[in-house]
Amino acid sequence: MIFIGIFIFAFLMWRAVLPLKCRPALKAAAGAAAFIAAFKFKIIQIFGGHYFAPDLPREVILLSAWVFVTVFIFMFLMVIGDTFLFGVTCGEALHTLLKTKKCDAKKLLRQHPLLNKVHAAELAAAAVVAVFGMVNGLALPQVRHLTVTSPDLPPEADGKTVAVLTDLHVDNINDRKKMEKIVQLTNELHPDIVCLLGDFSDGVKKRHLDALEALTELRPKYGVYGVVGNHEYYSGYRILTDHFAALGIPLLFNENRLIPRLKLRICGVTDSQAARFNETPSDPEKALACPEKDSWKILLCHRPRGAREHAALGADLQLSGHTHGGMVIGFDRIVAALNDGFVRGSYKVGDMHLEVSSGTCLWNGFPVRIGCRSEILLITLKRPAAGTGPRISTPPSSSSSDSPEIIRGEQEADVLCRDLPSLLNA
Ligand SMILES: [Fe+2]
Repeated sequence: MIFIGIFIFAFLMWRAVLPLKCRPALKAAAGAAAFIAAFKFKIIQIFGGHYFAPDLPREVILLSAWVFVTVFIFMFLMVIGDTFLFGVTCGEALHTLLKTKKCDAKKLLRQHPLLNKVHAAELAAAAVVAVFGMVNGLALPQVRHLTVTSPDLPPEADGKTVAVLTDLHVDNINDRKKMEKIVQLTNELHPDIVCLLGDFSDGVKKRHLDALEALTELRPKYGVYGVVGNHEYYSGYRILTDHFAALGIPLLFNENRLIPRLKLRICGVTDSQAARFNETPSDPEKALACPEKDSWKILLCHRPRGAREHAALGADLQLSGHTHGGMVIGFDRIVAALNDGFVRGSYKVGDMHLEVSSGTCLWNGFPVRIGCRSEILLITLKRPAAGTGPRISTPPSSSSSDSPEIIRGEQEADVLCRDLPSLLNA
């Protein structure tokens, strides 16, 4: 985080503060504001403990988040605005060159006269957009319905539903009241199974553990299953996992559970952060191991990374979160690049369907969503209707590509991966 702070501070000083034409005292104040915004996480760490789980009042967390989000958007707008102004300057220089046959190279290095005014407008716009982005980011999740179709699905599981809650990030913002509301919304969907994909809490104080107790009110027909996320390791891993055991909510640590009546096997892996904290490292081979091909396997894995390996190991459906859907349009491309190209929605990975949820809540360090909503995902498992041929969602030729295949359609994805070879041979 310190390197991110240095980068943000240097960028703000270079592009926004030093070009200011004002009294030195005002410029120094702007520099101080840039410093506070850039090193927000370090400052929070000093006053509120770990920056992943700050022990600060809700209002302070929200205010500091708003400042950081504003600066984040401001920097993005500055890159666009400054590039545009530089383009205008180049155009003017070219016009002068063509007209007078004289090249004014110094003009290219001079500050555009409108630069500071444009920056002021960008900062104001960023502050307003940050408010809307945070209101959107902190809103209650919407329900997203999805149908996953597979000819290998056992008839017993046909039509059964799986609710997915991920990235709950319990803290002073996502409190017990919000958890109770999320549980209520989930129960109203009458899911058969509920899957919890980790990043449960940012903190292990009594109020955090109390808020997580709300999850015991989930009422699926065939059980609740969960896995840990990376934030569990930052926030008192042992306390949290013991708490889940005491609540009777099973977390899967490289293991699986068979639901005999549905012939579904729920498998779960630990997070890749485990090794850093001397905890059980992720072992998908062990998690997916079973005596024979007696079931359809749903793999719970906090992150979408590793999906190709999981597909090769025989997972039929992988459910993941962690990315928060990329949170902001444009920024989601960076989040995707950091997660093997997966950021939100449906992907076909080998014979496996990967579904990446945008997350049910957000981490308080960056609680913003622009063009991406929080969600409770409800998946209906379906076998293809009798007599219908396979429908292929993506071109067969791209199945060997390294880049993920995105299954288009926000509300429904039909995946008939198993029939792909026979279709190609036909
Ligand atoms: Fe995460």
